[in-house]
Amino acid sequence: MSQADPIEEADRVLRICAACMYCDGLCPVFPAIDGKHGFDLADLNYLSNLCHNCQGCWHDCQYAPPHAFAVNLPATLADLRQRSYADYLWPPLLGRAFRASGIVVPAIVVLAMSVTFATVLITASPAQLFSADSSEGAFYRVLPWPAMAGIAGATLLWAVATLTLATVQYWRAIAPRASAGEIMRALPPALRDIVTLRHLGGGGPGCHDEGDRTSHRRRILHHLTAGGFLLSALSTVAAAAYHHLLGIAAPYPIISLPVMLGLVGGVALTAGSAGLLRLEYIADRQPSNRREARLNVAFLLLLGLVAVSGLAVLAFRSTPAMGLLLVGHLGLVFGMFAALPFTKALHAPFRAAALLRAAIDKQQAAARRDADAG
Ligand code: HEM
Ligand code: SF4
Ligand code: SF4
Repeated sequence: MSQADPIEEADRVLRICAACMYCDGLCPVFPAIDGKHGFDLADLNYLSNLCHNCQGCWHDCQYAPPHAFAVNLPATLADLRQRSYADYLWPPLLGRAFRASGIVVPAIVVLAMSVTFATVLITASPAQLFSADSSEGAFYRVLPWPAMAGIAGATLLWAVATLTLATVQYWRAIAPRASAGEIMRALPPALRDIVTLRHLGGGGPGCHDEGDRTSHRRRILHHLTAGGFLLSALSTVAAAAYHHLLGIAAPYPIISLPVMLGLVGGVALTAGSAGLLRLEYIADRQPSNRREARLNVAFLLLLGLVAVSGLAVLAFRSTPAMGLLLVGHLGLVFGMFAALPFTKALHAPFRAAALLRAAIDKQQAAARRDADAG
């Protein structure tokens, strides 16, 4: 990719695409640029998150290098996309931390693991860390319930608050002029695009995840990763309900809602993140952005570690290794929550917001066409 200013470069490339429109039909980026002659920062931040990075337009492009126009739309949008995450974090100090995420994320995870370990040493007897105990309440004899719930609640609240604030800022920058009714009517198609991730299908044949070859592997692996993450989160909710509503303390039997959700979620998350890591490894580097690739790998490693450590607790919970494995797993979970605003996690609400805007625009364009025809 050229070394030009990323905003000027994106404006240049998108003007060429808007004049060419050969790739119309591949994804919603092309209808969104149709007829436009210039792109401001809000347009660019919207388009960069609307792009699903399927790389279809790179393979189809007649103006890609070595052509003098040197159009590389996926890399251009990927560069802007990873910048947009930092731009909308609030307060701006968080954006600066995001830009240094290569240091900040590992530092937060190590800190969270150290705090968890120190809390165990202060609140429980060190012997409990190495004893084989799988009776009811065993986990809380390693890390007492108030400490576990307190650190989990604080780090989760932090993650939800910072991600929500960033998403609100982002939406305010890209929101179209639309009535509440128009937004409500656009919600179902937007939700369908979010849940199915159909734009990772490159207009039908799938992503170019291995050079010229297309497949739906990336889409399927993403579903496994995101689905595994959601099931694992539901497992924690179910465990809290068992604890507070039924008065039963962990560890729970294998055939129970928290364990089954955690087991299926953990296996899906492990398989999904391992598969996506492999695709990152074999990916064509030219139509991508190095910083975005690093963000992907860091997030995948974090998700994978959380999943594998949770499965290890389940597998070894009746052995003397349970204590250390539990502390390691909990430290990773707390670290993941605390580091979430500085990871690729921001792509989920930003992409959802961009897809909602695309659905509103599509609906308004259809209404205008109907009015013109009538
Ligand atoms: C609103 C829902 C979501 C949407 C629309 C969405 C969309 C996408 C898209 C289009 C990509 C590929 C492009 C890119 O590299 O940025 C991607 C990548 C990724 N997503 Fe999501 N996502 C969502 C939720 C999630 C969730 C809940 C997780 C798991 C916690 C997740 C994990 C990942 C990971 C790890 C990657 C990078 C892997 C890769 O493609 O190399 N996503 N997402
Ligand atoms: S990516 Fe290339 S072929 Fe496709 S619309 Fe842009 S300039 Fe045209
Ligand atoms: S990479 Fe795929 S999603 Fe992104 S602009 Fe090109 S065709 Fe659209």
